[in-house]
Amino acid sequence: MVKLTGLKKVKTAVFISGTGSNLKNLIKFSKIKNSPISIDLIFSNTAKAKGLRFSNQFNVKKYVSSFKDSKIAETKILNLLKKENIKFICLAGFMKILSKNFIKKFNGEIVNIHPSLLPKYKGLNTHIKAIQNKDKVAGCTVHFVTAKLDSGKIILQKVVKISKKDTLTTLAKKVLRQELKLYPAAIKKIFS
Ligand code: GRF
Repeated sequence: MVKLTGLKKVKTAVFISGTGSNLKNLIKFSKIKNSPISIDLIFSNTAKAKGLRFSNQFNVKKYVSSFKDSKIAETKILNLLKKENIKFICLAGFMKILSKNFIKKFNGEIVNIHPSLLPKYKGLNTHIKAIQNKDKVAGCTVHFVTAKLDSGKIILQKVVKISKKDTLTTLAKKVLRQELKLYPAAIKKIFS
């Protein structure tokens, strides 16, 4: 387990593939005085990820590598993480699955945020599934990453009520709003 040593924040990388709302939120959180982490690297598997713009905005290093050959990409990332002394990874809308080898070789902890109340609805299209199944509640989960998709130990969850009027868009918005609170809270919990 990664430990906080003295007043030094734990060097963290955020992995994204898209918009980066969680990334932006985590960067802001990391700047708070008693945040346990600093965000020192943004990784994306695609140059199209809108969230990459936060690299310039907040002066955080970025690195892009396609996962077409995931073995090569993971080796490059592992080297970079080592060079930058990164000890913690937050997956935030990262759409690729990290290999067993990557998880084993990375010298630190990896966490992910998932838009459902795990173990319900692992994988994609969580909100559509919740609406189609006429669920009364949805939510989000922060969990440790293991080689099995969306299956590692749960750190924190937040429940969101689904109303009859909710559509895919409104539910996704509602859940994302809670994600932005949940991710920092889960990180605080890990390092407390
Ligand atoms: C979030 O709902 C997250 O839980 C999921 O993908 C979405 C990412 O949104 N894995 P963003 O890129 O943080 O805006």
